[in-house]
Amino acid sequence: MITKATIDTVFETARVEEVIGDFVQLKRAGSNFKGLSPFSDERSPSFMVSPAKGIWKDFSSGKGGNSIAFVMEHEHFTYPEAIRYLARKYNIEIEETEQTNEEKANTDIRESMYLVSEFAKDYFHRTLLKSEEGKAIGLSYFKERGFTNETIEKFSLGYSPEAWDAFTKEALGKGYKLEFLESTGLTIAREDRPFDRFKSRVMFPIQSMSGRVLGFGGRILTNDKKAAKYLNSPESEIYHKSKVLYGIYQAKQSIAKLNNCFLVEGYTDVIQFNQSGIENVVASSGTALTPDQIRLINRLTKNITVLFDGDAAGLRASVRGIDLILEEGMNVKVCTFPDGEDPDSFAKKTSHDDLVAYLENNAKDFIQFKASLLMNEAKNDPIKKADLIRDMVVSISKIPDRIQREIYIQECSRIMDISEQVLVSTLAQLVQKDTLEVGKKQKQDYKPLEVVQSENPADAEKVDILYRLERKIIEMLLLYGDQTEEFEDVLLKSNGEGEIEHVVEKKEYKVFHRIYLSLQEDEVELANPLFRDIFNDLINYFLQNDGFSLEQYLMHLQPEFAQEVTDILMEDERLVMHNWEGQNIFPKYKKDTIGQNVSETILTLRWYLVGKIIEEIKSSITSESDNTEPMTMIRDYLGLTFAFSKKLGRVMSRF
Ligand code: CTP
Ligand code: MN
Repeated sequence: MITKATIDTVFETARVEEVIGDFVQLKRAGSNFKGLSPFSDERSPSFMVSPAKGIWKDFSSGKGGNSIAFVMEHEHFTYPEAIRYLARKYNIEIEETEQTNEEKANTDIRESMYLVSEFAKDYFHRTLLKSEEGKAIGLSYFKERGFTNETIEKFSLGYSPEAWDAFTKEALGKGYKLEFLESTGLTIAREDRPFDRFKSRVMFPIQSMSGRVLGFGGRILTNDKKAAKYLNSPESEIYHKSKVLYGIYQAKQSIAKLNNCFLVEGYTDVIQFNQSGIENVVASSGTALTPDQIRLINRLTKNITVLFDGDAAGLRASVRGIDLILEEGMNVKVCTFPDGEDPDSFAKKTSHDDLVAYLENNAKDFIQFKASLLMNEAKNDPIKKADLIRDMVVSISKIPDRIQREIYIQECSRIMDISEQVLVSTLAQLVQKDTLEVGKKQKQDYKPLEVVQSENPADAEKVDILYRLERKIIEMLLLYGDQTEEFEDVLLKSNGEGEIEHVVEKKEYKVFHRIYLSLQEDEVELANPLFRDIFNDLINYFLQNDGFSLEQYLMHLQPEFAQEVTDILMEDERLVMHNWEGQNIFPKYKKDTIGQNVSETILTLRWYLVGKIIEEIKSSITSESDNTEPMTMIRDYLGLTFAFSKKLGRVMSRF
């Protein structure tokens, strides 16, 4: 187990905007940052980060929390994984308490798979650099391809020796379980004897955006026609091919900084580009590009340049990827290489400056690219030419932005020598069809909110009012719980002549104390279970800590509370985002009205909750039983509500 001291250091060091900035391109918006939601497919920003509060909120999915919650959500880390990740990022040494065997057994499966994969990466890397076989075969192969030691380090390249079970034996000997060697696909189990999946291959670890090893690609070194050139890890709990881009870990910063991403096909293309000093490059690893992969890039930049091999064979098939990119609202350029060259071979024999110049001069927008690709064939064939034009308009129809569509229509018209009129009407048909399809899909996806509907509309309204009141209580605790305010107490005093008088006395309380005591007085609890839990958590926090700090509380915020709490705290930001972008919102309450606001909210809540109790007592009354006691209780409670409503008369309409 990681010690509490380490966890605290991690929380104190991690800056939410830095942690998130590794995954989402953030732009300053007043005192906050905003960006595209990494959790949903969207084109306008609804993701907010508040450095002051140390939290983030994704308004499109409702998710929110602190920096730990973000990496847990984004990287699918467990809590300890998230702490470890942040500790690594900030160079914080992790102190651990000794693990018992049982704890070891209980660490979750995914974590074990990550650990096995990390071990495998180190093993292959060590074998490449240290073993005689690795040096003679693997390392000399990489050297021949022109990879420097630095590059080999950067991509943690490795070598798996020519032996039946060299890796598996080593891993088992180190205490890694066969179960996880198998589930990661590193080992293939036979009844008699487990063996290595990758044998006598050079190894390319495939890493997540945050650097975790998810799987491997292994390249064979012989010219064996029967064996596949590349062998890859199978799909697993931690490796989903369609959601991974090779090189994204090494490329992410450069992509965001340069605001462009080069997309290539293979491992070696990525590595050779890095070696040439171009780092903003990732590979789809030979498979057709998927929307998930495009979204991974979309978090970092809006611009993709697809690099195609020189051979035209694969070109047409790959063109579909372009439409997918356009559909995500991104800008796409295409660059091809001379016949027989792929990005790897071309980069290898070209200097950095020449390579950069080549990419700049040869990157075409997709219209020009399609034209250049098919024009030769289509030139003298009207039918083919018509097909080509239709093909271009289909691509244009994928672009969500109208102005951009317009611009491409003009370009298409110019290049293909056809009137804009015709193109526009074709486009209109396509766009309409798409919209209808999208509309249909959204209807299917639509799920009504899970609200228990009461038969009686008045009940529904009550639930709503109660919900809002309780939420407001939480809000007041979060924002002002630790502040001292003046409150009015009504005391019963004897005036010395035997008469009881109501005396109003002003007294200072901490807001949380006041709220807590008032609710205790009536022995009521919040009705909403989530609010009740948050309430108890907050009150405990106030009672245990001298001097509440919102930042401190949010650091240790329980994941179950994160969505609601960030919702409450970022309410103003939502308004800024959706309505009055850039404008300042007035603070919620003026300092001098906080006490009053708290009192009114509590009073209204008590009024409601006591009303509820009365109803409960009423329903427990039966004609057979002795009802003296319940009747007395009802009378007392009614007296209370009467007093409340009198006091509240002027306030009620506000809720
Ligand atoms: N690929 C794969 N499995 C294969 C063939 C290819 O996973 N059997 C993927 C690899 O990610 C590879 C990419 O497709 O990097 C491109 O394939 P290819 O062009 O054949 O390989 P190169 O990257 O050019 O590899 P090399 O230069 O080492 O021959
Ligand atoms: Mn190649």
